[in-house]
Amino acid sequence: MTTLIRVSDLKKTYQTGSVRFEALRGISLDVQSGDFSAIMGQSGSGKSTLMHIVGGLDKPTSGSVRVGEHTLETMSETQLAIFRRSQVGFVFQFFNLVENLSVQANVELPALLAGGWNRREIRKRSAELLERLGIASQAGKHPWELSGGQQQRVAIARAFINQPMLLLADEPTGNLDSASGDEVLKILKEFNQQGQTILMVTHSAQAAAWAKTVLFIQDGLLVDRMDGGDEKSIAQRLVDLR
Ligand SMILES: Nc1ncnc2c1ncn2[C@@H]1O[C@H](COP(=O)(O)OP(=O)(O)OP(=O)(O)O)[C@@H](O)[C@H]1O
Ligand SMILES: [Mg+2]
Repeated sequence: MTTLIRVSDLKKTYQTGSVRFEALRGISLDVQSGDFSAIMGQSGSGKSTLMHIVGGLDKPTSGSVRVGEHTLETMSETQLAIFRRSQVGFVFQFFNLVENLSVQANVELPALLAGGWNRREIRKRSAELLERLGIASQAGKHPWELSGGQQQRVAIARAFINQPMLLLADEPTGNLDSASGDEVLKILKEFNQQGQTILMVTHSAQAAAWAKTVLFIQDGLLVDRMDGGDEKSIAQRLVDLR
């Protein structure tokens, strides 16, 4: 097993006017290549802040983040933009699809933006992903013609189009009913079983039970971790931490 993500003493302080808020207060953690980790914790505990920093969307106040060969705090904005585009796939709670583009065009967009692929290759990969996610028949539709679960599958296909080394998912099932949520998690699990490293934030013990590792964050600190665990034991651990 190799370490894909190494977070060392990560701190993030937000300053709003004269008010300072320490969202992350010194988090250290390793994620192994091929892991499927869930991050849990109460609202405001710093989960999204951590995800955004690991994905190069935001900068820490101090501390270090290494993802593969990349040491993020040493990188320029341009280098970070390339890193985000080519190495990281993002899935969010509110799908964030482009409404006036077809499903297929949404999936292909990051590949066109990244450059370096010809259109035939991109079309082939998007068709494969849509097929794999069971939405090939929706390729010509627009996002508003799809159910929430279908939209999230489009967002997942889009996140995988550039074959990222890391998938970051922030509450990917937060806006879905439990059955559609399970479908999305089943898909993530399948990608993980084929070697994809996934870091997922969730409020739901049901969702976290699909992960191999569960990390618990409280007030900007990593307070506990579980390796494997069913829904009931994860829910119990959450109660114990309160
Ligand atoms: N841009 C910002 N400016 C100021 N404070 C912020 C900013 N972003 C987040 N915060 C604060 O930092 C803390 C952590 O926020 P974060 O979004 O990481 O929490 P979270 O664990 O993802 O919560 P939720 O489960 O509600 O999504 C919160 O108290 C939040 O108000
Ligand atoms: Mg959040």
